[in-house]
Amino acid sequence: MGNKKVIILGIETSCDETAAAVVADGSVILSSIAASQNELHGRFGGVVPEIASRAHVERILPVVAEAIEKAQIHPDQIDAVAVANQPGLSIALMVGVTAAKALAWAWQKPLIAVNHVHAHLQAAILDQDSIDLPAVALVVSGGHTLLYDVESALDLRLLGSTIDDAAGEAFDKVASILRLPYPGGPSIEKIAQEGNPRAIDFPRSLMEKNSLDFSFSGVKTAVLYYCQGQDMKGENRVEKMSRQEIADIAASFQAAVIDVLVEKTRRAVDKMKARTVLMGGGVAANGVLRKEMERFCQSRALGLKVAPKPLCTDNAAMTASLAYPKYQAGLFADLSLEPRASLA
Ligand code: KG4
Ligand code: ZN
Repeated sequence: MGNKKVIILGIETSCDETAAAVVADGSVILSSIAASQNELHGRFGGVVPEIASRAHVERILPVVAEAIEKAQIHPDQIDAVAVANQPGLSIALMVGVTAAKALAWAWQKPLIAVNHVHAHLQAAILDQDSIDLPAVALVVSGGHTLLYDVESALDLRLLGSTIDDAAGEAFDKVASILRLPYPGGPSIEKIAQEGNPRAIDFPRSLMEKNSLDFSFSGVKTAVLYYCQGQDMKGENRVEKMSRQEIADIAASFQAAVIDVLVEKTRRAVDKMKARTVLMGGGVAANGVLRKEMERFCQSRALGLKVAPKPLCTDNAAMTASLAYPKYQAGLFADLSLEPRASLA
């Protein structure tokens, strides 16, 4: 009996990914299914909440059924149902929360509420028994750019956040300016490989000397001005640009964002005297960011834990994984659980 694994079903609908996963003991991923809605939002250049919510409703039960089937388990074997209930788009979160409550009630299993942003960091430490503390964590996603001081998976203290656009949002908006396909991050990373990151000196917004907050609207606007002229009266030149010119803009923009992400992480490391850096979230899938963060951590002999690429973007394996310490601690939610748009 003592060796029985704790099996948790995780559900994630905070943005535009309908996802479910079955994870044993917080680290063994038995299945992880995600139905992307990229094709639905692509022509709008960003996520449309109503469309996301409706698609979640259509997909959630088939996605859950597929996760259970792929895991080769019976619902009886599930010990708890976990769901990301915050932060995110309320009407999107609502679908996952409602499904999780219904399943927990029908199966008579405990319900566990998970913070989606914390789950992004859990993806970086999924199978680590322990990390060398103190640690500093960077969450870089479409919705958030956050720096944390980390005590444990469940004990995070916010050090800084974006005052305007999130890093991923800036990637998506700049991709849209450059007429690159949605989602913008992977599109920019791809074409940037052909470009010169030093071609254009886009601004690095570092704010005051010790600030750990981020601002990415300046670099986005700088790209827009570069493409349309300072007075914004000129037509968008992008259609007439060569592939090389677009690649140079993409590479230079990407370099500006990454410089800021690494510099702010450095400041947080210095302030907290951290020994380890954790990184997760959709933008952490970016190969150049991963390399630059690695370079920085090596130069300081710091440990670096980055979420594996498939677990950077939204998924439910990270949700089920973070629910495991909550299960062990008896931190259960009840059927009055509500979605919350805000981070805290
Ligand atoms: O974590 P995530 O899936 O969703 C949120 O919680 O927001 O992050 C999605 C974001 C999008 O803005 C997307 O453009 C960005 O992550 N992203 C990337 C890359 N892959 C995804 N940004 C830069 N480089 C990438 N390779
Ligand atoms: Zn996310």
